Amino acid sequence: MKIYNRLSLLLIIFSVFLSCESKNLDTSKKDIIEDPIENKIDSILSKMSLEEKIGQTAQRGKSSRVKELPADLKEAVRKGQIGSFLNIMNKNDAKELQRIAVEESPSKIPLIFARDVIHGFKTIFPIPLGQAASFNPLLVKEGSRVAAIEASTSGIRWTFAPMLDISRDPRWGRIAESAGEDPYLTSVMAEAYIKGFQGEDLSSPTSMAACAKHFIGYGAAEGGRDYNTANINENLLHNTYLKPFKKAVEAGSATFMTSFNELNGVPASANKYILKDILRDEWGFDGFVVSDWNSIIEMVNHGFAKDEKEAAEKSINAMLDMEMTSTSYHDHLKQLINEGKFSEKQLDTIVKNILRIKLRLGLFENPYFDPNDAILYDKKHLASAQETATESTVLLKNKNNLLPLNSKNKLAIIGPLANAPHEQLGTWTFDGEKEHTITPLKSFQQDDQYTIQYSEGLSYSRDKSTDGFGNAIKAAKSSDVILFFAGEEAILSGEAHSRASINLPGGQEDLITELHKTGKPIVLIVMAGRPITLGNIIDKVDAVLMAWHPGTMGGPALKNIITGKVSPSGKLPITWPKEVGQIPIHYNHKNTGRPVIPEEFVYMDSIPIAAWQSSLGNTSHYLDAGFLPQYPFGYGLSYSNFRYADVSISSTSPKIGDTITVKAMITNTGKIKAKETVQLYFRDMVGSLTRPVKELLRFKKVTLEAGASKEVIFNFSTDDLAFYGPDKIWVTEPGDFKLWVSKHSMDEANELEFTLE
Ligand code: BGC
Repeated sequence: MKIYNRLSLLLIIFSVFLSCESKNLDTSKKDIIEDPIENKIDSILSKMSLEEKIGQTAQRGKSSRVKELPADLKEAVRKGQIGSFLNIMNKNDAKELQRIAVEESPSKIPLIFARDVIHGFKTIFPIPLGQAASFNPLLVKEGSRVAAIEASTSGIRWTFAPMLDISRDPRWGRIAESAGEDPYLTSVMAEAYIKGFQGEDLSSPTSMAACAKHFIGYGAAEGGRDYNTANINENLLHNTYLKPFKKAVEAGSATFMTSFNELNGVPASANKYILKDILRDEWGFDGFVVSDWNSIIEMVNHGFAKDEKEAAEKSINAMLDMEMTSTSYHDHLKQLINEGKFSEKQLDTIVKNILRIKLRLGLFENPYFDPNDAILYDKKHLASAQETATESTVLLKNKNNLLPLNSKNKLAIIGPLANAPHEQLGTWTFDGEKEHTITPLKSFQQDDQYTIQYSEGLSYSRDKSTDGFGNAIKAAKSSDVILFFAGEEAILSGEAHSRASINLPGGQEDLITELHKTGKPIVLIVMAGRPITLGNIIDKVDAVLMAWHPGTMGGPALKNIITGKVSPSGKLPITWPKEVGQIPIHYNHKNTGRPVIPEEFVYMDSIPIAAWQSSLGNTSHYLDAGFLPQYPFGYGLSYSNFRYADVSISSTSPKIGDTITVKAMITNTGKIKAKETVQLYFRDMVGSLTRPVKELLRFKKVTLEAGASKEVIFNFSTDDLAFYGPDKIWVTEPGDFKLWVSKHSMDEANELEFTLE
């Protein structure tokens, strides 16, 4: 590992301290000028030509199909025309490009190498939606630390993660990469990812700059079709979509990425309101913003710019700092400046933003990296990935306590995901290797306690052939229990992989139906990048475990859960629909003037023939699908049971500015040690803008031995109840509130009330 020059290390530590401090202070010029990093930026900038300044705004890639480093790329680096690269995975290429930048380019400014290290580099953790289901930010932080340690051995000091798009639509393929539907949970996860990627000190050679993406509204795509239009009103924008991004700034995210979509008619990559007014002026973000892949020039397709030059003009004026892959800044900025459409002074601000992060990363002192491959797949990394996969798994159904199984059970292991090492890694895993992945089948086979018969039945998730059904049924008949590993291949979720039906694809439902006829109990284990609608088969299976795409160590994690070594503890970070027509369906919806009255609901098949014209039930529901999801947000069973008691609140008439404390005594009434995520929800009963029926306010995951009790204490301030109101400011309005200490978002057994004065 490179040895630091002592003085520069001190300088960096001091400047990081100063820059953190300055976030709490007024970031007026005076404070910035005293920052040694700012002094250094000024000194570098003063020697840069216009061409080099424009060069810093350029991020280029190299196609993995091209083996040699193209000579024109090297030449561009030599001239100072490139500030960053993405996806340079040949270590020699990365080193050579960096050498040219720091030795031969005019100002010797190091490059920053980026990659999508989303849920692990080599050691793959569960997809982010799965990690959110752990409700355990410590594990998430640990996982992103592991990712940074591994990725930095290839010179990657910048990851395009975390994705913080609120996702209410499981048809959208990128829901897999999100933390689900809730702004509070996503904010907690945002902080955990950023702190993990960036480490204690951004200048450490094992730290990666985080990138909060996609700013903003990408998850609100119409119909869940990727890249589609987002119409988000001010209320929703501030109270839901922006919240995790604000948290990202507070957690020190070094960079942001704009989204592909337009927001209310203005593409995000040229949206001054979000990029300048909110991100810079209101939140004080001082890192840099990168476009998404070609998202600047795609504004021509959006119909927002007549050509690439106008697209560049619009993005640069919105202060979008760096352009990913396309070259409109490189091609047109000089001319735009000459024409007075943008000033060199404004460009200086942009270049400063980029240099600031390069300096904070210590790239000037340590431009190269240590290719220490020995730490890839380190034992500790694998253990951490297994723990996260374990805590991410959600038990959704467990009829007659079928799970956990005992070792005497003869098992039939069936299904296309039982032994699919590549598929269980999930989306965005360019670097994970299936050779290192442990599948559930492998895990069971390695343990001679179990009698196993394996028959995949279907060779991949979309397989429609019934050729394998016979053998699978035979295996089932001679076993006690069927473990059916179902789901989606990795490629069916992720970018551009939206689905209009989110049932199990291929012949999986048919095979389950056939297996059900054997009369053997079925444990359905789902590995997928999204909730899967189970309506056609839910009554044919006895237990359901949602494992998401669990990553490298999914096999041992699932085996330990199935066999009862550990109790499942994941909770859903997203409402699970019964059928696709219910989407969008999310727990934190508004009440409407005609909320559902369960007793008055009339199911479609119960309507008399030739019924008199009426509005039947008169509430907001579907005649065929009702009003309930399959499983609510926050839901997840355990092998144990938990009693919630002695729920109390510190004051029933607190004043604005007070801290409020809610306590509850949680007891593990079962026979085994287990973890429980205790959730605190609130409702602001009357607002100057209508408020959601429920909002997650806090949660705590506790571990309890059998029979043990623990008091869970939640503290929150009245600021935590605030919302962005009609006057376009955050307000906490006096009045009546309800609180629930709950097992999930529909559990209202422990209700509290208070009136804010
Ligand atoms: C995705 C980004 C990603 C980028 C670079 C884009 O297509 O939307 O999330 O970071 O590619 O790979």
